[in-house]
Amino acid sequence: MPQFTVNRRSVLLAGLGAAGAGLLAACSDSPASPPLVDPSGSPVARAEAARGGTGRERPVTITATADTVDLGGGTTARTWTFGALPGTPVRTTAGDTLVATLNNHLPDPTSLHWHGLALRNDMDGVPPVTMRPVAPGGSFTYRFVTDRPGTYWFHPHVGVQLDRGLYAPLIVEDPKEPLGYDEEWVVVLDDWLDGVTGSPDQAFAELRKGMGGGGSGSHDMGGHDMGGHSMPGSGSGSGKGNSNGGGAGPFMLMGATSALLGGDAGDVRYPHHLVNGRIADDPEVYRSAPGRRVRLRIVNAGADTAYRLALGGHRLTVTHTDGYPVRHEEVDALLVGMGERYDVLVTLQDGVFPLTALAEGKDAAGRALVRTGAGEAPAAAFRPAELDGRILAATDLRAAEEAGLPKRTPDRTHRIELTGGMAEYDWALNGRPFDMADPSARPFLVGGGERVRLEFVNRTDMWHPMHLHGHTFQVGDDGPRKDTVIVLPGRTVVCEFEADNPGQWMTHCHNAYHGEAGMMGLLAYRA
Ligand code: C2O
Ligand code: CU
Repeated sequence: MPQFTVNRRSVLLAGLGAAGAGLLAACSDSPASPPLVDPSGSPVARAEAARGGTGRERPVTITATADTVDLGGGTTARTWTFGALPGTPVRTTAGDTLVATLNNHLPDPTSLHWHGLALRNDMDGVPPVTMRPVAPGGSFTYRFVTDRPGTYWFHPHVGVQLDRGLYAPLIVEDPKEPLGYDEEWVVVLDDWLDGVTGSPDQAFAELRKGMGGGGSGSHDMGGHDMGGHSMPGSGSGSGKGNSNGGGAGPFMLMGATSALLGGDAGDVRYPHHLVNGRIADDPEVYRSAPGRRVRLRIVNAGADTAYRLALGGHRLTVTHTDGYPVRHEEVDALLVGMGERYDVLVTLQDGVFPLTALAEGKDAAGRALVRTGAGEAPAAAFRPAELDGRILAATDLRAAEEAGLPKRTPDRTHRIELTGGMAEYDWALNGRPFDMADPSARPFLVGGGERVRLEFVNRTDMWHPMHLHGHTFQVGDDGPRKDTVIVLPGRTVVCEFEADNPGQWMTHCHNAYHGEAGMMGLLAYRA
C-alpha cells in the first residue's frame, strides 16, 4: 500500500503542475484525514490578495549550479551553489512582489524554500507538498508578496542539499526603517564538508546507519568516488572532546558537548566553519571607521552546528530575531541555532577585531574581521573574551510591543514530541518518522482563523532547532516572535501562532540530517 501510494503519486506528479500537487494532497489517500486546503486553492489566493503590496515587482534570476568555490587560504571545494558562496543576497522592499526564477543546472531535482516568510503556500518550495521538484535543466518562477520586513534566507527543500553551498540571504527592507545606522553587513555562518571530506549525501548515509553502524559503517564509503579524501580533524578543530567512540566513517561526530545546548551539540564532523563562505585563516574583512554604527544581519545557514557569535572588544545590541523586533538587549555573545537569524547593532571601536563564530561544542570556529584602524589581526585561533560574557539565547528575549500576539485562548493545541536518537538515527515527531512520499498521511490539523498552541516536547537527549513554515509563533507568554526555536533536551517550548495563512506547511527540526531522517511533520489547514 505505501509503495502504491508512492508510485501513484510520482506518476501523477510527473504530469501535473504545482496546482496538481496541491490537488493531489487535498485528496489524501489516508481515509482518516479530512480534506485539506489546496496549496494553490482559493483560500491561498485570498490570503495573498489580503497582503496587498505595492504591486512593484522585484525580478531576480537564481541559477543553481555545480561549482568550484574558493573558501580562502588556497582551499577550494567542488560543490553546488547559486553562483557564489553565500549566494548573492536578494533584497526587496516590504510590499514588493518577488519574482524569482530558479534555473536548475544541477544533476538532481531541487527547489527554493523562502525560510521565515509568511508567503503564499504554493510558493513555499516544498516538493511534493507545495510544488513539483524542479527537474535538472528545468526552471520555476516563484512569485509572491514580501510584506514583512526582516532578515530571511532561502535554500532548497530537497534532501540534504542545504548542506551544500545552496543558500543565500533574503532581506526585506522596511520603507519606514525605525532603526538608525550607518552601514549594514550580512553575516552568514555555515558548517562545511561538501567537496572536502565527501558530500552531504554520503554523510547522511553514514549517519542513518546509527551509532553502532551495524559494524559496517565505514566500509561502504569506499564505493563512492570520493577521490581519496583525507580524514578531517587536522587544525584547530581536533584539540579535545571530539575524540570519538562509535568510530564509524569520517562524518559522524561523537562527544561534542555544550552546556548551553544541554549536552550533545551535534552529530556531524565538519572540517571548516565559514563566515560568508570563508575559512578563519583567510577571512572576509569588513572595513569601516571608528564610531560608525552598523547593523549586522546574522543568519545560521549551517546544517548541524549552533554558533556562539561575538565581536571582540564590542557589545552587541540585539534588535530582532527571525525578522521580528524584540526589546533591545545588550549582550556579549549570541547563540544562533540552524535556521535562526539575529539583527544586532554595534558601534565600532578603533582597531582590528575578530567577529568569531564558535562552533558550539565542536571546539572550532569560523570568523570574519572588522577593521576600522591600524593594527595586526589576531591569530585565527584567538577567542575573544566576549564569547564567555553574557551569552543570549532567544528565550532570553521579549517581543517588542508591536510584535507580540494579542492574548487569546488557544482554539487548539498540538503537542509535538521530539523523539529518536543517534543510536538508530530514528529522529521523528511523536515517534513517527515523516515520509515525504506520503506527506499528508498524518497532518497536524488546524482551522483557518484559529489560535494554535504548539508544545514542542523534547524527549531526546539532544537539542533541536524547531522550525515552522509560513508563520511566526510567539515563544512563551511574552517571548520573541520567531519561526525557528531551540528546544533543549528534556525541555518543552510552548508557542502560539495565528492560523492566518492557509495551506500545508512543514514543521521540522532544522538540523538538516535530523529533518531528513524524519523529524518533520505537516501542519495543514482543513478545507
Ligand atoms: Cu529553512 Cu523547512 O526550512
Ligand atoms: Cu534535530
